[in-house]
Amino acid sequence: TIESVKGREILDSRGNPTVEAQVRLSDGTMGRGAAPSGASTGEFEALELRDGDPQRYGGKGVLQAVKNIDTVICETLTGMDAYNLSSIDLAMIRADGTEDKSSLGANAILAVSIACARAAASALQMPLYRFLGGVNGNQMPVPMMNILNGGAHAANTVDVQEFMIMPVGAKSFREGLRQCSEVFHGLATLLKSKGLATAVGDEGGFAPDLSSDEEAINYILEAINLCGYRAGEDIVLAIDAAASEWKCEKRGQYLLPKSGLHFTADGLIAHWKALCEKYPISSIEDGLDEEDWQGWQQMTEELGGKIQLVGDDLFVTNTKRLCKGIKDHCGNSILIKLNQIGTISETLEAINMAHKAGFTAITSHRSGETEDTTIADLAVALNTGQIKTGAPSRSERNAKYNQLLRIEEDLGAGSIYPGQGILKRSFC
Ligand code: PGA
Ligand code: ZN
Repeated sequence: TIESVKGREILDSRGNPTVEAQVRLSDGTMGRGAAPSGASTGEFEALELRDGDPQRYGGKGVLQAVKNIDTVICETLTGMDAYNLSSIDLAMIRADGTEDKSSLGANAILAVSIACARAAASALQMPLYRFLGGVNGNQMPVPMMNILNGGAHAANTVDVQEFMIMPVGAKSFREGLRQCSEVFHGLATLLKSKGLATAVGDEGGFAPDLSSDEEAINYILEAINLCGYRAGEDIVLAIDAAASEWKCEKRGQYLLPKSGLHFTADGLIAHWKALCEKYPISSIEDGLDEEDWQGWQQMTEELGGKIQLVGDDLFVTNTKRLCKGIKDHCGNSILIKLNQIGTISETLEAINMAHKAGFTAITSHRSGETEDTTIADLAVALNTGQIKTGAPSRSERNAKYNQLLRIEEDLGAGSIYPGQGILKRSFC
C-alpha cells in the first residue's frame, strides 16, 4: 500500500522546471516519475499547471503542482494499493474533477501515475515493461529518429519541425539504433562540408538554415547513402510537419512562419503527396491543423493507403478525439504522449483503441524531457512498434535508447523487432 506521495520541482532538458513525484510503499519500496513538457503543444492537451509568478523561472515554476501532490494527491492515494494503477489514476482524475486536469495539473497527476507504476513494479521485482505489458510485451520499437530539427524546436529557417529516419531494414533494435547514429554522424560531416551549422535543436537533431524541406530531405538521403545504406529499403524517412503551428487568421489556410509560404489545405495535401512520390517517405505526422478534420479526411483518402498519417496535436492521446478520427477516417495512426492526457491508464486505453481500429500507435517523448525512461518501457509493454525519442546527441534522449538496449538484452531470444513489418500493417 501507498504510504506517502511527495512532489518536487526539478529541471527539464530545456532548463525549465518540471514536476517529479516520489511514491513510498509500506514495505519501503520507492518509485519516481517525472513529467515532460512540449513546445508545439496541441490546443486540446491536458493542462500543464505553471505558477505564472514572473519572479521565478519566468513564470514557469511548478510549485503549485508540487503542492497539489503533497496535499490533495497524497491524501487521496495514501492507503491505496499501488498495483491497482487504474484505481489510482481514477482517484486522481476524480480528485481533480475537471475535463483537462487543470485543477491539480496534468504534470502533477502524470508524475504520480508514473511513480506509482514504478513503485509497484519494483515491489514485484519486475521490470516496468513487464508490469505494464504482462506476457504480451515483447516487441521492440523501430526508432523514428529525428535528426534534423526545424519549426518551434529550432532557431533556423526550416518550417517542418522534424525530419526522421526509420531503420526498417535492421534485424534488431540495437542494429537499427547503430545505423541511425551512423547516419546522424554522416549528416554532421556532410553539413560541415557545406559550411552549414551543426548546432542542435531541442530534440538533438541538427538545425541548419536551409531553403526548403526538399533540401533537408536531400541532405538526409545523401547521409544515408554515404553511410552505405539504401534509402527506401534499409532506412525510410518520416516527417512531423507540426502544421497546427501554421494556423492562419483565415480558417483552412496555412502560413509557414519562417519561409512565409502560403497554402490552402488542398495545396498542402498536394505538397505532401508530391514529396511522398518523389522521396522514400513512409510517415507524415500533423500534416494538417488539429481542427481541420475535413482536411484530414481528404488527406487520408488520398494518401492513407500508402502513408502512415499520424495525429499528434489532432488526437492528443485522447480517446474521445481518437474515436472521432477512427469514425471519420481521419489519419491511420496516433502519436502517444503521456502528458497530453495525464495518466498511464488513459494512455493505455488510447493505445488499445488505436490497435483495435487498425491504427498504429507511436510512443513519443516531448521536446522538453527528463532522464525518466518510462516511454521506452511503454513502447515494449504495449507493442507500439515505433518510438520517437530524438537524436543521439542529448542524454535525455539517449536515456530512452539505452533503456531499450537493456530491455532488448533482457528479452533475449524472445524479443521481436518488427522492421519492415511496421510499414506493412494495414492502414484504413
Ligand atoms: P512537442 O513536439 O513536444 O514540442 O509538442 C513534439 C512533437 O510535436 O511531436
Ligand atoms: Zn508532433
